Amino acid sequence: MKIRKVIVPVGGLGTRFLPATKAIPKEMLPVVDRPLIQYAVEEAWAAGAEHVIFVTSRGKKSIEDHFDHFPELEELLSLRGKVDMLQSATDMIPEAGRIHYTRQSHPLGLGHAIWCARELVGDEPFAIILPDDLIHARKPVLQQMTEGFQKVRAPMIAVMEVEQQETSKYGIVAVEEEKNALMRVRSMVEKPAPQEAPSRLAIIGRYILTPEIFDILGDQEEGRQGEIQLTDAMAGLLKRQVIYAYRFQGTRYDCGDNAGYLMANLALAMERPALAERLIPFLKKFPLNGESSSS
Ligand code: UTP
Repeated sequence: MKIRKVIVPVGGLGTRFLPATKAIPKEMLPVVDRPLIQYAVEEAWAAGAEHVIFVTSRGKKSIEDHFDHFPELEELLSLRGKVDMLQSATDMIPEAGRIHYTRQSHPLGLGHAIWCARELVGDEPFAIILPDDLIHARKPVLQQMTEGFQKVRAPMIAVMEVEQQETSKYGIVAVEEEKNALMRVRSMVEKPAPQEAPSRLAIIGRYILTPEIFDILGDQEEGRQGEIQLTDAMAGLLKRQVIYAYRFQGTRYDCGDNAGYLMANLALAMERPALAERLIPFLKKFPLNGESSSS
């Protein structure tokens, strides 16, 4: 029951970051010095995955290039003796045959993107990482989940508590017993209005699912925002199987949102002494009451 394959969907349009994402995929935006997809792929390897499957779309070629060699650049760095730079550009390139790509021709929603990977996943449990949910954790979250999966051997979704007024941005789950880290899901609903949300436990972008989800996704009708929603399909799966919600350990940054993305950059930069040393005096220039620092 090892989780060998991880789907990383990158077929979306990234409209919340326009105009930056007109020609550059949202998933290629850097946090400090690495693009979001690199954090996702590193998390997959840390969890013991053997294959990463990207669901891409038009204009996402730079994602493929990122995980490939760039001979001219490597030669130049080598000639100039830039060993560290050469290493950082090549160490993250996976062994041939471990990264796979399939296309989603139209951005019909996350559920549809996952369904596009069905043939590459085949008949085994698999994981999903949404690269714009960057989770900073001592033990990578997918690893926390694969360890939990070995115990319960059932589909599992990462959750965290959000503010009541934020429920309409997330898939929300109701669980049997809220106090544990691993909780049996009773129901789930995509983006409920705050007054209709069954709880404040929001689904965050890490999932372990079984291949039954592909059959359900194949027949899934459009849901909220006219998209094929993964949460709706998981609600269907819940009628057939036990699903667990897992309250992960770590800090999540919503890098699909401008403020969350900036917070991720600041938080991760502060962990590097050389950057923190320069950033702290700079940030002190910004008064908390919102007055302009230049006056
Ligand atoms: P989001 O909803 O956050 O991404 O999907 P988006 O639609 O690209 O962004 P906005 O809302 O327009 O700004 C989460 C992940 O699912 C992928 C996205 O690429 C992102 O990594 N996704 C989303 C797909 O692969 N296909 C889709 O049809 C939708």
